[in-house]
Amino acid sequence: MLTPCFHEYHHIMTAFAIRSSLLHCLRDPGLAGDVSAIEYLPDAVTLVRDGYVEKVGPSDALLQTLGADVRIDDHRGKILVPGFIDTHVHYPQVDVIASYGTQLLDWLNRYTFPAETKFADRAFADAAAAFFLDRLLENGTTTASVFCTVHPQSVDAFFTASEARGLRMIAGKCLMDRHAPEALMDTAETGYRDSKMLIERWHEHARSLYAITPRFAPTSTIAQMEKMKALAREHPTTYIQSHVAENKAEIAWAAELFPGHRSYLDIYDHYGLLRDKAIYGHCIYLDDADRARMTAVGARPSFCPTSNLFIGSGLYDLKQALAAGNVVSIGTDVGGGTSYSMLRTLGEAYKIQQLQGTSLSPAYALYLATLGGAKALSLDEKLGSITVGKEADFALLDPAATPLLARRTSLRDDPMDVFFALMTLGDDRAIAATYAGGKCVYSRDASSISI
Ligand code: GUN
Ligand code: ZN
Repeated sequence: MLTPCFHEYHHIMTAFAIRSSLLHCLRDPGLAGDVSAIEYLPDAVTLVRDGYVEKVGPSDALLQTLGADVRIDDHRGKILVPGFIDTHVHYPQVDVIASYGTQLLDWLNRYTFPAETKFADRAFADAAAAFFLDRLLENGTTTASVFCTVHPQSVDAFFTASEARGLRMIAGKCLMDRHAPEALMDTAETGYRDSKMLIERWHEHARSLYAITPRFAPTSTIAQMEKMKALAREHPTTYIQSHVAENKAEIAWAAELFPGHRSYLDIYDHYGLLRDKAIYGHCIYLDDADRARMTAVGARPSFCPTSNLFIGSGLYDLKQALAAGNVVSIGTDVGGGTSYSMLRTLGEAYKIQQLQGTSLSPAYALYLATLGGAKALSLDEKLGSITVGKEADFALLDPAATPLLARRTSLRDDPMDVFFALMTLGDDRAIAATYAGGKCVYSRDASSISI
C-alpha cells in the first residue's frame, strides 16, 4: 500500500526542507563508539532538491536562507537519520518469516524452496516485491542488498517495483543448478546467460545495481562455479552476494562437495567470487586466515543477528571481525531473520555481542546501519550520512513512538542514549516517515505531512 504522501510528492515536489533533530555518523566511530565521529544537531534544517541534500545545518542559521517557496515539513521532536541499509535480505521469503522448528538445511527444504517456486509467476512476484518494499520503507530502510529467486522475472519484478519508488537497491537472480527442487534450478549455461541479460537490463539503470547471486556453494556445480567466475570477471562493477559459514552442517556439506579446499570461504575464492563489492551473509565460522583473506581482497561480511538466533546458527563475533579489518555491515536476512526493522536487528546484534562479553556501542550500531552499510556496499560517497551532495534518503525516528519509549527517552538528553533506547525498544512504530530519492515515500501518519 502506498501512502498518500507517496503519490503527492512523487511527481510534484522538487525542493523542500525538513526541520527536525539530526543524528548521523561523520566517520567510523569504532566498536566502543567515539562520539566525536557522531554529529547531533538538536534543531536542524535539511534542504532537499531534486533527490539530493542541498543544504544542512542548524535551523537558526539556515531557515532564513530558504526561498519563500520552499515547503518546510516541521518535525521538531523527531530525529532525522540516514536511511537504513540492510545488506542481506531475501524478498521472496516474505511468506517464510516465522517458520517453526528447523535449522538451516531443513529450513531451506521444508519452507524456503517451496515458497520460492511461486516466483515463476510474474504477477505473484510483482505483488510480493511491492509488499516487501513497503515493509522496508515503513521500517526506514531505503537501500538493501536483495536476493531474488532463480527466476529472471523475479528480478524484473523487484527492480520495476524499486524504481517505481525511486529507491537505490542492489539485487540479483539466485544461481543454483543442483540440490534444489527441479522448478528452482537453472543450469550453468542458462544461469550465466540470464544473469548477463539482467546485468545489461538493470545494472546502473536509474538507482538499481546488480549483484551476481550464487545462493551458496552447495547448490552450484563446479561447472556453474566456473561460469560465475567468468561472469564476475566480465562484469567487474557488479556486486556479488552469497552465504558462507552460517551453520555447521552446511559447512561439512560444502567440504564434502568441494574437496581439497582449505575452507568454505576458499571455495568462493578459488572461483573468483571473493573480491571488492562481494557481500557474504553470516560468516560466523570463519577462521583467522579467512578473515584476513576477506580484508585483503575487500570482500565483506553481513552480520544477520535475528536470523542467526532464529535458525540457531551461532553467535557472530563482531570484535574479532573488526580486529581482522573486515568491513562489517548488518542484514535482516528475512525470512531466516525475524524482522524487517533495522532497529530490532541492532537490538539483537547488541545481545549477541553481550553473550560474548563485548558491548556494541549505540554509536557503532548507528554506523553499522547507515554509513558503515554504505561503506560495505561501496556507496559511502552517495549514501550513509546527511551531507550536502549525497542522495536524500532518510528515516525520521520518533523517540516517543510508544508510551514506554516516550518515558524512557525523556530521562536523558544524550542522543546516543536515545538511539540505544530506540534500538532496544523500537520497531516500525518508531519510524515516523521515510524519504528516498528526495521524496517522502512513507509516512506513518500521512495527515501530519503538510503539502
Ligand atoms: N543459505 C542458502 N540459502 C539461504 C537462505 O535463503 N537463507 C539463509 N539464511 N541461508 C541460506
Ligand atoms: Zn540469506
